[in-house]
Amino acid sequence: MEQTRMEGFQLVARAEEIPVGGAKVVEVNAREIALFNVNGTFYAIYNICPHQGGPLGEGRLKGHVVSCPWHNLAFDVRSGLATDGGGNCVGSYQVRVRDGEVFVGPRRKVQD
Ligand code: FES
Repeated sequence: MEQTRMEGFQLVARAEEIPVGGAKVVEVNAREIALFNVNGTFYAIYNICPHQGGPLGEGRLKGHVVSCPWHNLAFDVRSGLATDGGGNCVGSYQVRVRDGEVFVGPRRKVQD
């Protein structure tokens, strides 16, 4: 796909490509990013699980929580924080949707 830039954001998908409850793995600045559609809102987190490198974009999404397909460590796709309270996390990235196109931008700060 053509890489269109918008104020530090990169075009990664058309919204219609990712159904509600679905995900797509995209590449942004040479990093694999998992993009999720939760009830029409898109969220982006780093695709690689910090446990042993499982692909989070292939995990099972339930509400705002995705479970790693390898050993089930679960992450909130809104923040990138693991839900078990153990302090694991992955990067969480800003997302914008314009005219049916989905853009991923800079990494969020943890407090966002
Ligand atoms: S690699 Fe993700 S839980 Fe083990």
